[in-house]
Amino acid sequence: MKTIVILISGHGSNMQALLTAKHDYCIAAVISNKADAGGLAFAQAHGIPTAVVAHRDHPDRESFDAALTEVIEGYQPDFVILAGFMRILTMPFVKHYQGRLINIHPSLLPSYKGLHTHASALHDGVKIHGCTVHFVTADLDHGPIIIQAAVPVLQDDTEETLGARVLHEEHRIFPQAVRWLCAGQVELNEFGKVVNHRHKQPGFALISPSLE
Ligand code: GAR
Repeated sequence: MKTIVILISGHGSNMQALLTAKHDYCIAAVISNKADAGGLAFAQAHGIPTAVVAHRDHPDRESFDAALTEVIEGYQPDFVILAGFMRILTMPFVKHYQGRLINIHPSLLPSYKGLHTHASALHDGVKIHGCTVHFVTADLDHGPIIIQAAVPVLQDDTEETLGARVLHEEHRIFPQAVRWLCAGQVELNEFGKVVNHRHKQPGFALISPSLE
């Protein structure tokens, strides 16, 4: 069975989805850069070891990432999963975990990197928005895409209603991506492309607003 370490910064609802979904991976630890991250208590209550590596205790990104790597390595994970981990990672960290580090982002990348993705989507008036799970590279919130989910943007949507619709899909696609990864069904090849070994590749059009 493959082992994962999950990194969080806050509420940790995606980590909770990874924990409660039917899965065949072992969650060795949940690590946060913030001691008050809500998700830590949930993990502890489920018997998962937790650790805090506070970015504020380190003078720069390099020393923070080095300390984080040391703690992660203590659990010897096969994969490192960023589940709402809101720190920009350095090149050595990303290189160390190349092909073994994935992130979830609340937009249909490459649109809307960074923060406030739902507000930006509403501002632009796009009719379809969503979320993405991708391998992490040196580009912030970008990298080879494993899976995406699209949702309609409704006329009366607020940042909150749209965010909730997207988050609901995050909780579905993230456990799927991690299951694929741990089963060796999805991997990053030597050319930096995602290879999906599954035969099944259905999909259908989401038209928003719908046709009459
Ligand atoms: C999620 O929406 C996740 O996609 C986003 O932070 C939220 C964390 O929520 N991640 C990013 O924006 C990464 N750039 P959670 O703590 O409830 O899982």
